[in-house]
Amino acid sequence: MSDQNAVIVENVSKKFRIYHERNQSIKQMVLRRSRGVYEEFWALKDVSLTIPVASSYGLIGENGSGKSTLLKCMAKILVPDEGSVVVNGSISALLELGAGFHPELSGRENVFLNGAILGISSKELNRKFDEIVAFSGIERFIDTPVKNYSSGMYVRLGFSIAINVSPDVLLVDEVLAVGDAEFQMRCADKFTELKGSGCTIVVVSHSMEMVQSLCDSAAWLEHGSLKMSGPADQVIRGYLDHVAHNREATAPAPAAPDPVAPIVPDTAVPAP
Ligand SMILES: Nc1ncnc2c1ncn2[C@@H]1O[C@H](COP(=O)(O)OP(=O)(O)OP(=O)(O)O)[C@@H](O)[C@H]1O
Ligand SMILES: [Mg+2]
Repeated sequence: MSDQNAVIVENVSKKFRIYHERNQSIKQMVLRRSRGVYEEFWALKDVSLTIPVASSYGLIGENGSGKSTLLKCMAKILVPDEGSVVVNGSISALLELGAGFHPELSGRENVFLNGAILGISSKELNRKFDEIVAFSGIERFIDTPVKNYSSGMYVRLGFSIAINVSPDVLLVDEVLAVGDAEFQMRCADKFTELKGSGCTIVVVSHSMEMVQSLCDSAAWLEHGSLKMSGPADQVIRGYLDHVAHNREATAPAPAAPDPVAPIVPDTAVPAP
């Protein structure tokens, strides 16, 4: 039933243009009567999956397999060329490092800017401000322009805003990996707490450890197609087996020892 699913992805395909020759001038554009020479490329091909309410879902797969594209379709940043994505409830997304932040504004101003974009009233933001800043742990730098933030500081503030607006569905792309160990542990605790309160979490990650410990279910994308979906541990095993198999298939055969090579004594001196 759809009301038990937070996210329903049905036969989603998304294509992009890969430009081989881009116009360098308006004159060239007029002469060519097009924007340049390109081919179409399907970043997602007929992907279908459902994510139950209050569950945590991992998206895994190699670089360029379409994970971020799928997450952006869920966040309504991208519109699929085919198929549909239905998200039941409010969405909060942490997609790219610094996305949604204005570099010249301070952390404080960006909290209010982001909150306004997410549709939170300034009254509510004022109420939540201290909690957001406390979770981020960057109190000292809250009045510094965010262009001077480190990657970890960006993600701390972005994540704190994303979770404190009480979303029904939280979408998080890879970015948490730049947070330090302590922050990542706090995020993991927060995920458990959010799930307990009915929030659905979708994370993209290359950390199988994180997906294993955090996610109930997962989907593995390969070249834009859904290769496998189901319980997280099974999907992770499938993906890792595939990676190991590919490595074996492409690894060079070990060189046979040279029968005439002189035996050189080990001259390495142990450290004092
Ligand atoms: N706006 C765009 N224009 C053209 N091609 C794009 C665009 N966005 C993504 N792509 C292409 O779509 C494919 C999938 O990209 P995507 O970012 O979804 O991969 P990913 O699985 O998130 O990879 P990674 O693990 O490296 O983050 C890539 O080949 C990428 O180059
Ligand atoms: Mg990505």
